[in-house]
Amino acid sequence: MKLKKLLATGLAAIMVMGLVGCSSSSNDSKETVDKLQAIKDAGVLKVATSAEYSPYEFHKMVDGKDTIVGFDDFVVQEIAKDMGVKVEYEDMDFDGLLGALQADKTDIVLAGMTPNDERKKSVDFSEIYYTNSNVCIVKKGKEDSIKSSDDLKKLKVGVQKGTTQADYVTNTLGITDATQLKKIPDLMLELQNGKIDVIVTGKAVAQINVQKYKNVAIGNTTVGDEVAETAAAAVKKSSDKQDNAEFIKAVNATIKRLQDSGDMDKFMQEAIKLAEEK
Ligand code: ARG
Repeated sequence: MKLKKLLATGLAAIMVMGLVGCSSSSNDSKETVDKLQAIKDAGVLKVATSAEYSPYEFHKMVDGKDTIVGFDDFVVQEIAKDMGVKVEYEDMDFDGLLGALQADKTDIVLAGMTPNDERKKSVDFSEIYYTNSNVCIVKKGKEDSIKSSDDLKKLKVGVQKGTTQADYVTNTLGITDATQLKKIPDLMLELQNGKIDVIVTGKAVAQINVQKYKNVAIGNTTVGDEVAETAAAAVKKSSDKQDNAEFIKAVNATIKRLQDSGDMDKFMQEAIKLAEEK
């Protein structure tokens, strides 16, 4: 008797659970938004970036208007064009970009961002659209000061906060007292003032900055070089509420088109020219 009752209660519980499960899953599937369609419906692709990373993204006066330009801008304009929408930028600190994605403040991040395992835990990445190396920027005359990573450990190192360069210096090399600032131009000032001895950053970025700022040069060293600076677009992970599969597919299709046509490389050259004109 007791057993029967137990079984009956158990059965009832299972049925209730089944019902709840059913109804919630059918609700969810009704609510699931196809992100690509939503972007097309809105007519706008919201892009978050950190526009102090020339030639990837930086500010420039265009026809008397402060505009975000650069390599990533060329790429994202093509992504938007293929979707039939226009780009709307949100400019913020680099270390705030992934949070903005999570909070649905933006649709996509293009910021010369390197996909790594840590970031992949919270966001999805497109295919890699550009690969560069990392270098050390030092004061002119100090080009030979870094022969090995041990030399780097003896210097005052600066990196951009929240970047893969910061991760490399801190976690791979174990330099715990590196100066971490939010923007590359701030690091360049610290280097010029002698508050730091070296900046570890991407090669394309270094090349622009050593032209722009006096008395600095790229060091003759391969330290930093062993970790490539790749760039990919980041989007929020799909959930019950939002399906990003078609969105990512569309982004990857544009990337492939630009790579196959050779436009990707042209865009980097164009962006470097724009940055040098500045
Ligand atoms: N590639 C490096 C990273 O992903 C640095 C990117 C910095 N980008 C920027 N817009 N400030 O961490």
